[in-house]
Amino acid sequence: MESYKKMLLANKAWVQDKLSVDPQFFERQATQQRPEFMWIGCSDSRVPAEEITGTQPGELFVHRNVANLVVHTDFNMLSVLQYAVEVLEVKHVIVCGHYDCGGVKNALTRHDFGLINKWLRYIKDVYRLHRREIDAIEDPRARLDRMVEINVMEQVNNLAETSIVQRAWKKFDRPVLHGWIYDLRTGYLKEQACLRPGTRLESIYMFDFWDQAPPPDKP
Ligand code: CO
Repeated sequence: MESYKKMLLANKAWVQDKLSVDPQFFERQATQQRPEFMWIGCSDSRVPAEEITGTQPGELFVHRNVANLVVHTDFNMLSVLQYAVEVLEVKHVIVCGHYDCGGVKNALTRHDFGLINKWLRYIKDVYRLHRREIDAIEDPRARLDRMVEINVMEQVNNLAETSIVQRAWKKFDRPVLHGWIYDLRTGYLKEQACLRPGTRLESIYMFDFWDQAPPPDKP
């Protein structure tokens, strides 16, 4: 059997499986979604967001790209973020990187990969900002691991620097921003960073609405 046909068959089995424990499962799915979490992960096939977090359909609002980047001119990611924060009112946004990330690894070479050079440039910029720390690590694997961790922390900062997140922080005291690392070698997730609503950022990134006093309470 052709491999893709197995997927369609597996889907039929999955539907039966779901219905056998919960006959109304799909009827409920069709009416609404109230996910508590937004997930920004790597496109890597070895990092399936729902499976490694034990979450069910309806629980994760997912965006994935090469090396889990948060690029402030990426309208795709920003649209997902705005919808998640302003409409779905998610409480947490998780950036999940992973060790042995091909995107990060290749960004640290000087090889010409064609179109994707433009995407990998953002990772090269992260390297340049943290070059002293990265270059001081002698073991190549430890160096790449650290680069993956630093990349996630930078992407969490990039999230905090968006007006979408800062407005929600000021008005609604959410979402909490998380940076996690998935270890392909063990299957475990590790918490790398956590920014709570209202965390001070470098002042140039803090929008001026923070300076405005809250409106006085009506008598
Ligand atoms: Co990756």
